[in-house]
Amino acid sequence: MVKHIHAIVADDFAALNGKVVAQLHSQVPLIESIGHYIVEAGGKRMRPTMALLCARALGYQGTQHIDLATVIEFLHTATLLHDDVVDMSEMRRGRPTANVKWDNPSSVLVGDFIYSRAFELLVSIGSMPIMDVMASTTNRISEGEVLQLLHKHNPETTEAAYLQVIHHKTAILFAAACSSAAILAGASTTLQQQLHDFGLEVGMAFQLIDDVLDYEGNGAELGKNVGDDLAEGKPTMPLIYILQHGTANERQLVTAAIQNGGLGKLEEIIAIVKSSGALAHARKLAQQRIDSALSNLAGLPASPYRRGLELVADAAINRSH
Ligand code: IPE
Ligand code: IPE
Ligand code: MG
Ligand code: MG
Repeated sequence: MVKHIHAIVADDFAALNGKVVAQLHSQVPLIESIGHYIVEAGGKRMRPTMALLCARALGYQGTQHIDLATVIEFLHTATLLHDDVVDMSEMRRGRPTANVKWDNPSSVLVGDFIYSRAFELLVSIGSMPIMDVMASTTNRISEGEVLQLLHKHNPETTEAAYLQVIHHKTAILFAAACSSAAILAGASTTLQQQLHDFGLEVGMAFQLIDDVLDYEGNGAELGKNVGDDLAEGKPTMPLIYILQHGTANERQLVTAAIQNGGLGKLEEIIAIVKSSGALAHARKLAQQRIDSALSNLAGLPASPYRRGLELVADAAINRSH
C-alpha cells in the first residue's frame, strides 16, 4: 500500500529498516525474540517515513534522520506492544500478538525495553529541542491511552472527548515525526509549526479511519481483528454518531453494546453503522483533516519528497490496512 511512498526515499528507508533491526540488540534473548517478532512482521512504517520525507523535503543532507526515524518507529512499536495488552488484542500485523504468543508481562516489559532504547538513540542524536518534543510526545501518548481507558464502557462519551483521546494517543506522534525532522533539518520555526500541523492532521485522519476499519475492514487485509473496539466497549466515532443521530432502537442497542462490550452484537452493530451513515460521517471528518493537513505543505518547495508527503496524506484515508 505504501510501497510507492517508501520508494521515494528508498535508500533512507532501507537504512531505517536496517537500524530498526540492529537496535534491538540485547543480551537478553527474550527481548530479541519478541523485538524481532513484531518488527519483522512488517508494519507500514508510516510515521518514520514521514520523518524521512520531511527531512529530505527541507534539503537535509546528514545521516541523523535515520536515527530519528528509528526512534519514532520504536516509540510506535512500544505503544503497540502495550496497547495490545490493554486492548486484549489477538492479532497484529497479520500474526498473533506478542501477548498471545508469549504473555502480558513479556509484552509490557519488552515494550519498556524498546521504549527506553528509543531514548538511548535520541540521546545519541544530541539535540535538546528534539529530546523535548519526544519527551512530551510520549507523555501525551500515555495520557491518551489512560483517557481512553476512562471512557471505556461510557456511552456518554462526547465527540470532543473522543477527539481528545485520538489527538493524544495517535496524532501527536505523527506531528512529532514531522516537527522533529524539521528541527533536525534546521527549518524555520514557521516551517516546524506547519509540518507539525501537517502531521497532526494526518494522524487525526489516520485514527478516524482506523476506527472505521475496526467495523468495516477485512481482518485478513488489516492484519488485526475487526470488532476489537466493540469487544472492549470503546466509544469511537461511529458509535458516538449513532448515539447522536440514530433511532431510539439503534441508540439503545449501541448504548448496551458500549456498556457490556463483547462481540455478541457485532453483526447488528456493523449493519447499523453502515446504514446510518456513521462510517460515512467518520470518513468525512477524516477527509476534512486531510484537506487541512495538505494546506500546511504550501511552504515547502516542490520536490518528490513533498509529493511523498501528499501521498502519505492520501494513504492515511484511502487504505484497507
Ligand atoms: C496502528 O498503527 C495503531 C494506530 C494508531 C491505529 P499502524 O496502522 O500505523 O500500525 P503498523 O505499524 O502499520 O502495523
Ligand atoms: C492505537 O489505537 C493507539 C496506540 C497504539 C497508542 P488502537 O487501539 O485503535 O490501535 P489498534 O487498532 O490496536 O492498532
Ligand atoms: Mg488497540
Ligand atoms: Mg484500532
